[in-house]
Amino acid sequence: MSTVLEVTGLEGGYGYVQILNGIDLHVDEGEFVTIIGPNGCGKSTFLKVLFGLATRHKGTVLHNSADVSGWRTDRLVDRGIAYVPQVDNVFPSLSVRENLQMGGIRLAAKKLTACIERACRMFPDLEPRMNDLAAALSGGERQMLAISRALISDPTFLLLDEPTAALSPKYQQQILANIDELRTQGISVLLVEQNARLSLARSDRGYIFSGGKVVYTGSAKSMLNDPDIGDYFLGLHQ
Ligand SMILES: Nc1ncnc2c1ncn2[C@@H]1O[C@H](COP(=O)(O)OP(=O)(O)O)[C@@H](O)[C@H]1O
Ligand SMILES: [Mg+2]
Repeated sequence: MSTVLEVTGLEGGYGYVQILNGIDLHVDEGEFVTIIGPNGCGKSTFLKVLFGLATRHKGTVLHNSADVSGWRTDRLVDRGIAYVPQVDNVFPSLSVRENLQMGGIRLAAKKLTACIERACRMFPDLEPRMNDLAAALSGGERQMLAISRALISDPTFLLLDEPTAALSPKYQQQILANIDELRTQGISVLLVEQNARLSLARSDRGYIFSGGKVVYTGSAKSMLNDPDIGDYFLGLHQ
């Protein structure tokens, strides 16, 4: 099995401010990997550094064996990486259709139409809302739109930051099931989640971050069954 992402000794943050203190992490092809950890420990910062949106100080990032350390976001998108931010992940004043079109701004018109149709098949709830403003969507629908928008660029590797935060249990389950399904389309997934139990239940492996470091990594199953991890993290948001 090949490795989609191989991060070694990654240090970084915002300008000179260092938040990540040496992260080692990998994602194999077709894997669903979840990162959990307390608020403020650097989970979002890690995804932002990977996607060229925050500063890398040291360390290497390999994508499909190529060194992409410090690459610009647009070049990472061209390589098939997509990212769904934790907040502000749709344009509220644009319609659902326009949001999706924005996600495919680099695609030819024909391909864009096909990709929008594919997004509608995946999230049928969005289809009747195509002409509504994104601002009018519920939290769950907004998250579906954000994920669809990221998928329009036809990625093979998706980074997601807390896609189920503040959603109803029904939507949490649905969104995680949808993300899990992406693997059948050949998309590998790296996810940051507060709903650790729900997400690990669908994951192959997990990492726990604390203070900008990895403090634990193992199979999702072992994490779900470890009483110490269960007490400390998994119960936090259930
Ligand atoms: N744009 C920013 N500039 C400076 N510091 C930031 C910025 N965004 C987040 N931070 C700081 O980085 C640390 C890690 O934040 P974050 O990665 O968002 O944590 P998490 O996602 O694990 O809750 C926090 O101390 C936070 O205050
Ligand atoms: Mg965060």
